[in-house]
Amino acid sequence: MLKSLPKFSLWLAPMEGVTDRVFRLLCKRMGADVLVSEFVSSEALIREKAASLSKMALDAREHPIGIQIFGHDENSMRAAAEIAAQENPDFIDINWGCPVNKIVKKGAGSAILQDIPKMIRITAAVVRAMESIGRRNNSTNGTVCNALSCKSRAESIGRRTNSTNSTVRNDNATPHIEHPEYNNKSICSSNIPVTVKTRLGWDASSKPIVEIAERLQDIGISGISIHGRTRAQLYSGAADWTLIGEVKNNPRMYIPVFGNGDIDTAEKALLMRQRYGVDGVLIGRGAIGNPWIFAQVKELMRKEHLFQETHSYEHTEAGSKIRQEAIQIPERTEVSPQRSGHSEVIPYPTTAERIEVLLQHLRSEIKVRAAEPLTFELTPEERYARAERISCNEIKIHYGGYFKGIQGFKPYKVRLMQTSALTEVENILAEFRQA
Ligand SMILES: Cc1cc2nc3c(=O)[nH]c(=O)nc-3n(C[C@H](O)[C@H](O)[C@H](O)COP(=O)(O)O)c2cc1C
Repeated sequence: MLKSLPKFSLWLAPMEGVTDRVFRLLCKRMGADVLVSEFVSSEALIREKAASLSKMALDAREHPIGIQIFGHDENSMRAAAEIAAQENPDFIDINWGCPVNKIVKKGAGSAILQDIPKMIRITAAVVRAMESIGRRNNSTNGTVCNALSCKSRAESIGRRTNSTNSTVRNDNATPHIEHPEYNNKSICSSNIPVTVKTRLGWDASSKPIVEIAERLQDIGISGISIHGRTRAQLYSGAADWTLIGEVKNNPRMYIPVFGNGDIDTAEKALLMRQRYGVDGVLIGRGAIGNPWIFAQVKELMRKEHLFQETHSYEHTEAGSKIRQEAIQIPERTEVSPQRSGHSEVIPYPTTAERIEVLLQHLRSEIKVRAAEPLTFELTPEERYARAERISCNEIKIHYGGYFKGIQGFKPYKVRLMQTSALTEVENILAEFRQA
């Protein structure tokens, strides 16, 4: 089935250790338009490391979704993209932005921002590899890219479902993104589109993102996501969207440009669209423990007149902030939206709702993990215990977000952070609810 991206699309930003399949589906249910897998190492992929292969397992309900790969070697990246393509993602995303030392030391992620010719060469190799998958398909199924040929491609390249341990087969391949602002032309043909996610540059003295975007477009990428920080900044300071705006408003650019950095309320998402004209935003940390953010942006888009009339934007050294001028704030008793990371004008979830969604989230994590094929033998009980322990630990990153701004949560959070048992989490949350 062909799918079109909305004019302004909301992406769940890829986050290693956070945006697993369960959380992606939760965000999708809340309104995220585009999902991306956690990053997968090209080197690990070509060596068929089980953890990397299982990270790529997609659920048919996730489309449109991209698989993100990272690496430093042209051959490995090309081969990894080919392996990833067999999972039928809608696009392959290349991570040229990760600032983590372990990755950078190997020349991958944002390290490439110090060697733009290499970035272009590797990206071009991946683009060509994805084109040749399209050509292979076209030579057997005709030259026009349509739903049929895309599906045939998916079928013709075969699946690694068994070897990659996908639990859900994806038979509705949507390897084809359309973008209404570009005359409804698809931004790919029958190829698998390649997108890039990167940063402004290496450090304050080197921010060549405008040139990088042009060069990547010229070698055939289908879209670019830009995090408004340099590698040197890591996650410090405020994201600078002005250069993202320059890329978007460069008359030479025709591929979609997606902005990223510090979007943690619906208002900020719309302000960035209004101010910089981006084709969409990626929301990362703002979605941790707050999958509602996507629904809130959509709701605010429906009530745009209210937003236009009531907010202005301040960009200061200290960061970006929304200035509230005159607004009817919905009545609230338990949470301050300024502190909660929730929209000021869109209803925010009640404590009961947050608890319910958090528990759904945790229970699904346990269920999915317990069903994971493992390389070692365990009894069903041991399998469940393992899944419960890992899931209760991994959900900890979400607690702060789920209950941000809610008075009296702190002592409960301390207890939640100490447990790895589902029943204990349930009991603590039940106590909190009644408090
Ligand atoms: C815990 C964590 C894990 C991340 N993992 C990835 C990743 O796997 N791939 C990637 O491109 N970016 C990754 N990022 C960066 C985010 O996608 C995003 O660019 C960054 O957090 C800025 O956006 P935000 O301000 O909305 O969080 C990660 C960020 C965090 C906080």
